[in-house]
Amino acid sequence: MAPNRERLALVTGAGSGIGRATAIRLARDGLTVVATDLRLEAARDAADAAGPSALPLALDVRDEAAWERVLAALPPLPLGVLVNAAGVTGFGTIPGGQDPETLSLETLRAVLAVNLEGVVLGCRHALRAMRESGGSIVNVASRAGTIGVPGAVAYAASKAAVLSVSRSVALHCAASGYPVRCNAVVPGAIDTPMWSAVLGEGPDRAERAARVAADVPMGRMGTAEEVAEAIAWLASDAAAYVTGTELVLDGGMQAGPVFRPTR
Ligand SMILES: NC(=O)c1ccc[n+]([C@@H]2O[C@H](COP(=O)([O-])OP(=O)(O)OC[C@H]3O[C@@H](n4cnc5c(N)ncnc54)[C@H](O)[C@@H]3O)[C@@H](O)[C@H]2O)c1
Repeated sequence: MAPNRERLALVTGAGSGIGRATAIRLARDGLTVVATDLRLEAARDAADAAGPSALPLALDVRDEAAWERVLAALPPLPLGVLVNAAGVTGFGTIPGGQDPETLSLETLRAVLAVNLEGVVLGCRHALRAMRESGGSIVNVASRAGTIGVPGAVAYAASKAAVLSVSRSVALHCAASGYPVRCNAVVPGAIDTPMWSAVLGEGPDRAERAARVAADVPMGRMGTAEEVAEAIAWLASDAAAYVTGTELVLDGGMQAGPVFRPTR
């Protein structure tokens, strides 16, 4: 595989939160970063923060023709890394509830279109570019995809599907002899703008965030940079023997509920 500086890293959802932190982190590793987002202005801002070699492009991950345009517009370097970070909870952006009694097909399809179809399209297009020269795909799943979430059926199902897609892509590449790895990260509660619909933006935000943090064994929400660090490792050759797996970043939630003995 080509050395870092001669490889491209394409990040979706790079305009905010985990995607943005990942674009900045991968640029620090010397990769030539293509920061993409539905919102071109936000992608531009992330590319500016990532450094002079980073390139911003508009990409709606739901749109197959847009993937083709973006792949055709890439600088003439091998695509070594794809990070599928674009995602939506649906709360605040897509109308309709997400509990099993009220979830409409429209809402379900709108969430799946970004979180599942976007990842499937990304993997398919990346494979075309990577199957000869090699690469690493990292999909951003969620703790929500490993448990039941009664008020977020669409989001949880979409993230469970991301885990499944990641494993299938990994096995497909291994079976086909492609030098391509595919893994997922499984973040818990990460303090990004995605939480605005739940925490609000007003003066009560900190108090509400503290309530979320109280359910985390480590007692705090994670940061986008902490997730980006794990993504950068999975993307790098340091993880050369790692494929088809998940890296959990949840402050200990997977290990069990917080135990606070009363004295
Ligand atoms: N924040 C958390 O607690 C958390 C936990 C687990 C998993 N995740 C996942 O991490 C990923 C990043 O989330 P975040 O917290 O950084 O959220 P965020 O809202 O800060 O960023 C998401 C970005 O995705 C972009 N986006 C939305 N729809 C798009 C589309 N159709 N095409 C391209 N870009 C699109 C948005 O414009 C935004 O810039 C998501 O997949 C999310 O589900 C987040």
